[in-house]
Amino acid sequence: MIKIGLLGLGTVGTGVYEILTNKYDIVNNSVKEELSIEKILVNNINKKRNINMDTSILTNNINDILDNNDIDIVVELIGGVDLAYKYIKRALSSGKHVVTANKAVVAKHMIELHTVAKNNNVGFLYEASVAGGIPIIKSLKELMKINKIHSISGIINGTSNYILSSMEQENVSFKEILKRAQDLGYAESDPTDDIDGYDMARKIAILSSLAYKVELKDSDIKTSGIRNIKINDINFFRKMKLSVKLFASSNIKNNAITAVVEPVLVPTNSVIAQVNSNLNIVDIECDILGKYQLIGQGAGKDPTANAVVSDILDIINKEYEDFEITLNEEVALTNDINEFKNYYIRCSFDDQSKIEKCKDFLSSMSQDIEVKENDLFCITNKINIDSKDDLLLGCTKFSKNIFYARMQ
Ligand code: HSE
Repeated sequence: MIKIGLLGLGTVGTGVYEILTNKYDIVNNSVKEELSIEKILVNNINKKRNINMDTSILTNNINDILDNNDIDIVVELIGGVDLAYKYIKRALSSGKHVVTANKAVVAKHMIELHTVAKNNNVGFLYEASVAGGIPIIKSLKELMKINKIHSISGIINGTSNYILSSMEQENVSFKEILKRAQDLGYAESDPTDDIDGYDMARKIAILSSLAYKVELKDSDIKTSGIRNIKINDINFFRKMKLSVKLFASSNIKNNAITAVVEPVLVPTNSVIAQVNSNLNIVDIECDILGKYQLIGQGAGKDPTANAVVSDILDIINKEYEDFEITLNEEVALTNDINEFKNYYIRCSFDDQSKIEKCKDFLSSMSQDIEVKENDLFCITNKINIDSKDDLLLGCTKFSKNIFYARMQ
């Protein structure tokens, strides 16, 4: 009998509990050894929950799990960084396998935790940490057995994609849709991470670290989000037959990595534009297979819990790899992106007198500027990232509400 200790019974924890109990027969048939949930760590044992369960397995003492010799697999779903990292490391060090959905911990401590797992002969799996239900990490490891990975890109945050596609389809405000994304269980406890791009930066850091054999930190990745987007932006894009997506990309050339998270404008009839709601898409370019693409639900209770349970089954079936990342010391993040692109910049004004000044400022590098009431819409000439950053910085002298997107 394989015994599981679950840390956390929030949205994903509940999903995992439900799959392991409601689908017990199916799940049990696909493993070589029977499994059971031995203990679940919660904050409040007496809290009323929406699931039927044997509450005697609840505990609020982490030692009941980490010091319990009967428990083979610890499933970390408490979120946060420091405490979760401490628990994961302690579990691995005491010879327990660990499954986690925690991208913040994986992005920050991946290499160290893989080493601890290897030294203790246990598995450390985190499929649910990137792109929810899409088996992207398994696919990447599989591809890497034969291929060299050249680039990874895609929509890897469900909340921001749900917000942008709902604004486009339903003409509703950012604030209203964000609340809905939270109610649906897509958003992080602090949705700042979703809307400012930090969640995507963590995910592209994890994928890139695996693919390029480097310890890439999310904090080093140039990251912009969608916090300032307005319905007026969406209406402008609609007129141009464009859709906006928050997008992450990284590539490697001559051992130099570039990685960025930013809003991107794509033609409304492109594949990317059809990836709506909480769906994610990941594109991988590699040398033998060429282009490889996966689409699926990137956030929410069931898709994320599905990925967690899939990792649990792999551990029980001993199908986890003894995956060691041998870092390639030659590889480094340069962010020296010398590409020239058109950018969309929208500035809004409380004070009409600043509009003309801002227009003058932008005009030297822009092909098209339109002013409508308190908004200025601009499409820049083809410029590099540094010029774009200079333009955006300059605009902050005139406007407090600015949104930009790169044109594909
Ligand atoms: N908040 C995340 C998202 C959850 O919206 O994608 C899944 O990682």
